[in-house]
Amino acid sequence: MRSETAQLIKLEDYKETPYVIENVSLVFKLQPEATEVISTLTLSRREGTEVGAPLELDGDELTLVSVAIDRAVLAEEAYEASPKKLVVHTPPADTFKLEVVTKVNPTTNTKLEGLYLSQGIYCTQCEAEGFRRITYYYDRPDVLSVFTTRIEADKATNPILLGNGNPKDAEDIEGTDRHFAVWHDPHPKPAYLFALVAGDLACTSEKYTTASGKPVDLNIYVEKGNEDRTDWSMDSLVRSMRWDEKVFGREYDLDVFNIVAVSAFNMGAMENKGLNIFNDKFILADSDTATDMDYEGIETVVAHEYFHNWTGNRITCREWFQLCLKEGLTVFRDQEFSSDERSRPVKRIADVIRLKSRQFPEDQGPLSHPVRPTEYKEINNFYTATVYDKGAELVRMIKTILGADGFRKGMDLYFERHDGDASTIEDFLKCFEDANQLDLSHFSLWYHQSGTPFVKANGSYDEAAKTFTLELEQNTAATPGQDEKKPFFIPIRFGLVGPNGDDLAYTSVEGAHVDGDLLHLTEDKQTVVFQGIGSKPVPSLLREFSAPVKLESTLSREDQIFLMRHDIDPFNRWQATQTLMTELLIELTNGEEPAGKDAFIEALGHMAEDENLDYAFRGFGLMLPSEQDIALEIGKEVDTDAIGKARDAFSKEIGVTLYDTFKRIYDAMEMPATFSPDALSAGKRALKLRCLSYLGAAQTKESAALTKAHFDNADNMTDRMGALTVLVIWQLAGAQDALKAFEARHKDTALAMDKWLSIAARAPSEDAIAAIRTLTEHPAFSWDNPNRIYALIGGFLGGNTRGFHAADGSGYDYLAEITLQLDKTNPQVASRMAKSFGTWKNMNAERRVKAEAALKRILAADQQLSTDVKEIVELCLD
Ligand code: ARG
Ligand code: ZN
Repeated sequence: MRSETAQLIKLEDYKETPYVIENVSLVFKLQPEATEVISTLTLSRREGTEVGAPLELDGDELTLVSVAIDRAVLAEEAYEASPKKLVVHTPPADTFKLEVVTKVNPTTNTKLEGLYLSQGIYCTQCEAEGFRRITYYYDRPDVLSVFTTRIEADKATNPILLGNGNPKDAEDIEGTDRHFAVWHDPHPKPAYLFALVAGDLACTSEKYTTASGKPVDLNIYVEKGNEDRTDWSMDSLVRSMRWDEKVFGREYDLDVFNIVAVSAFNMGAMENKGLNIFNDKFILADSDTATDMDYEGIETVVAHEYFHNWTGNRITCREWFQLCLKEGLTVFRDQEFSSDERSRPVKRIADVIRLKSRQFPEDQGPLSHPVRPTEYKEINNFYTATVYDKGAELVRMIKTILGADGFRKGMDLYFERHDGDASTIEDFLKCFEDANQLDLSHFSLWYHQSGTPFVKANGSYDEAAKTFTLELEQNTAATPGQDEKKPFFIPIRFGLVGPNGDDLAYTSVEGAHVDGDLLHLTEDKQTVVFQGIGSKPVPSLLREFSAPVKLESTLSREDQIFLMRHDIDPFNRWQATQTLMTELLIELTNGEEPAGKDAFIEALGHMAEDENLDYAFRGFGLMLPSEQDIALEIGKEVDTDAIGKARDAFSKEIGVTLYDTFKRIYDAMEMPATFSPDALSAGKRALKLRCLSYLGAAQTKESAALTKAHFDNADNMTDRMGALTVLVIWQLAGAQDALKAFEARHKDTALAMDKWLSIAARAPSEDAIAAIRTLTEHPAFSWDNPNRIYALIGGFLGGNTRGFHAADGSGYDYLAEITLQLDKTNPQVASRMAKSFGTWKNMNAERRVKAEAALKRILAADQQLSTDVKEIVELCLD
């Protein structure tokens, strides 16, 4: 085993830098294999720093060319340089200029962090610690400075040169084939928001005028040939900018806003000041290559990165432990934007599905961590569902507790008080406290205590006394590093549903703080008594999913079916359906014959046909929990084969029983003549495809033919991909032909072929690993591009539960193999894949033995492991 012991970074060790960087001037002489970076920093000693205290700057794989102070080249003994660090032993006492020249190689930068080339385009990714791969710097978010960037490059191959802020001069460099552009960003910022792009790009532009009348040029740059696929992202950008003015009173603050889409990108996108850089899958869309989900994803991510301009850039984080300060808040903002643009209840359901399928497993396994962690080894491992999605839930709870006006007052104060700051969660919460004169100290535990709270609720009605008593209990299991848990402050939105479906009013209540339909559960156990309840209610708890908890209710199946039909809260109608489905599926997995199954299937049919409900809502209502969801719910000694078999059989039973209902809905659905990604049309397509999937599950000759015809006649990607998935998953006649036809049609469009790879990765197979190995040889696949890896490998790990968790351990062995392989080129991607080991402890003994061996094999491998992979594997084994 060869690996360095990575340092554990702790929140409690936070200290300000001894020097302040007043401004930064950068010159980039771009060359594919040897780019020269000249950095001139104006530095001054911070008050309290001893005169001559060493100046230590971060680096990562850097080659130093020269170093000078106030134009005098430093003697060798005056400094110490390594690829990871530059130390100037005794800097001058007062303000001085440090000039550092480094050389970097964008071509061989396969980590996609720092400066790299993607399809001939120079681009950067600096969050979290990529700037130190460009030049030596205080690469930490609390060092804010004003940046001026001069970019020089070959003019023919790089006609476009982009930087942060506003454009200044641009000219040819006399006597050469090169030109330059200068960009100046007046807003002080940390280095992680630095960006640069150079290349031969196509551009779509639009003019925008802010609420106060300031003109802004909006540009979206893409690889040539993709310029006719940017309409939707531009439209999303304009709507986001208007929305932030209207809802949060936030205007844009530069003359230009540039977006660049590149094809090789580790994450979704990056909010660099005035120059957002995107993974092209979150920019490019047309009806032939993008699904309704892609359109929604683009709208969300474009908005998210734009919203960061205030929550992230104008107010940034003091250190990376505060990541949720910008990410949780910005996810909350993008969720609200989409809710306003589309259907609020449907968006809420979609967000909760995401939270439960990604964050709940994380929080109930070895990778569990608080929304605001206190230690890490590799910060890139903490861009997690917990920080982002649970972080957003915490902001949502603040709004629930304070109400819309109180929330807005707190946000206004936050922007007023902290504009220009590198802040903390404590600063953020203080604004809500001060603006509303209240104490959020109990609530703040949500940021520090990890794990998913389990809430138990048991109701009983006293006919004679006309009282309804609710026994509430909360319990959070121990998580890594936190054995003892304190009770959370859990806001529970609720209704007491009367026999005719209306909420019953109460005259008074004891045992908890209750305000209208909001109850505060603050203790381990509380008994809440409602007076004046005229008839026996069915309690509907946690409406709108008012807190990120797991609710274990003791409602009977009849009561659940009642809520599924009558709850005035659409979210809880959906939740009741899910709860029932999950209970039935677990009993089926255990080989039992569940009570109330027929009544449930009948109710499902009613919901599918209920014209009073949104199409999209009905589509979600029909969706069975995934095999992974069921596995998490079972929680221990999991046998994924049994789950898969039970779920297949139940899908088939629903399909057979409600065949005529689904066929009727399918046939009656009228689709607009031309494709439009709007919410109503998308909802229709979703419901129609959901019906088709049950018809497909019935596996009749007719349904196979119908599915194949749906595929053949599809005039958009949503329908084409939806039908192809049904054909492949249910192995219907025509599946192989459809796969070939899809490939022939889309072989030149990488993002479309990613869908093909992900469907193929999910195909049921006796030897799933052999199938995946074959797919890695396909021309559409490449180990060099993260999107291809996420599609095929990610599709397999997340979507082929039986294949990945195969009892013979072949899935775990394969994951160990590719984790090691990917770690040599791109540690961030390797570690993201390795996180799929996070559920191994929930498996049965047979599987656990194999998973543990595979994890240990990674640590024992004869190669230098990245901190990224090492940290994840060690946490999994802990
Ligand atoms: N700040 C970006 C976003 O959420 C994500 C960047 C993550 N990058 C990384 N290397 N971990 O919009
Ligand atoms: Zn973000």
